Amino acid sequence: MIFNEEYFDEGLYRMGTRSEKWDACRKEHGENVLPMWVADMDFPSPPAVQEAILKRAAHPTYCYTEIEADDDEALINFWQRRHGVTFGREDITMIPCVVTGLRLAALALTQPGDGIIIQSPVYGPFRMSVEETGRKVMDAPLVRDANGRYDMDLAAVEKQLQAGAKLMMLCNPQNPVSRVWTAEELQALLDLLNRYNVPLVSDEIHADFVFAPRQFVSVMSLQEKNVVALCAASKTFNLAGLQQADFICKDEAIRTAMRNEMDKAGVRSGNIFALEATRAAYNEGDAWLDGLLAYLKGSYELLADLVKQHLPKAVLTPMEGTYLGWLDLRAYGYTTDELMQRTEKAGVYFTVGTFFGQEQGEGHLRINIGCPRRNIEEAVLRLRVALENGDEE
Ligand SMILES: Cc1ncc(COP(=O)(O)O)c(C=O)c1O
Repeated sequence: MIFNEEYFDEGLYRMGTRSEKWDACRKEHGENVLPMWVADMDFPSPPAVQEAILKRAAHPTYCYTEIEADDDEALINFWQRRHGVTFGREDITMIPCVVTGLRLAALALTQPGDGIIIQSPVYGPFRMSVEETGRKVMDAPLVRDANGRYDMDLAAVEKQLQAGAKLMMLCNPQNPVSRVWTAEELQALLDLLNRYNVPLVSDEIHADFVFAPRQFVSVMSLQEKNVVALCAASKTFNLAGLQQADFICKDEAIRTAMRNEMDKAGVRSGNIFALEATRAAYNEGDAWLDGLLAYLKGSYELLADLVKQHLPKAVLTPMEGTYLGWLDLRAYGYTTDELMQRTEKAGVYFTVGTFFGQEQGEGHLRINIGCPRRNIEEAVLRLRVALENGDEE
């Protein structure tokens, strides 16, 4: 099979599949709404994934599972092959999802009431993982330039370290601002954290979505002590409903502390279909993924053109990776609530900016471009209607 533009343009009908993105969205916001929000893609997973699931499903028992060497080896080989990152079986711990890993890190590496650094705007569950484990958010917001490109503010990070922060959560590559952090940026951050002996948990779920010539750099390739990486095949190969991820940690003390928290909470992994699907994706998904990356790069270029043409007052943050575009619509003068009401009325649903930070997300929307290009075109046209019309009411 060839994973070209035609293949990804085809997309697929997802209604009636218990899809959060489609079914839940249309139930809540209207049956014709175009969902451009939650981060999964309107493309089929690689054919090898479906074949692996069907094959296993054909055997009529679905009992307790064992995670075997080839499950870990598929992950190890994929990261070595695609990112040049090396780790061993002993470094891997399977968990249900990446957000589980954020929470385990908070529980294992800090005490109730301790401060944890995040960098808003950032994927909402970062903040929730801190607050819902009884820890305190210490924000060191990213800074942005006039083009909407974001950078880390190391002075702000240091201020929070001086104020006693005990852990930092990094999003690498960054959702929603789609920065792909460079080795130099990551090293500077690690040097700073090391001066205060504060560990870093790095959410690397978007590692595979990086547009050339940029290259993904894992914190694991820079440092072994005091770092944990969270990864999954779920985002890359569209498998989020299977609930399988890993934390990778070469620091034995941290690894043990996180595994102890898992034991306390009874957290287990090894869903029978997730094991089959993930192994197939890592072992046989390269051609599909290469095709996807080429398609997404073109989709990003299309989005940038459409925004220029139809939304002249909007600022689209340059996308270095992910399939998530960050749109600054403040120049249109609407509050975030107004933006959500207007877009709903115009028949399109984006992720509300304030999900990523109350202050930094105000007046912003996040658009998911992991879909056939005709949906991106339609979404931008509906957004234009939402921004332009309706003043008469
Ligand atoms: C940065 C980031 N981390 C984690 C997740 C969720 O991962 P999981 O479903 O494995 O918890 C997402 C999903 O959008 C994400 O963007």
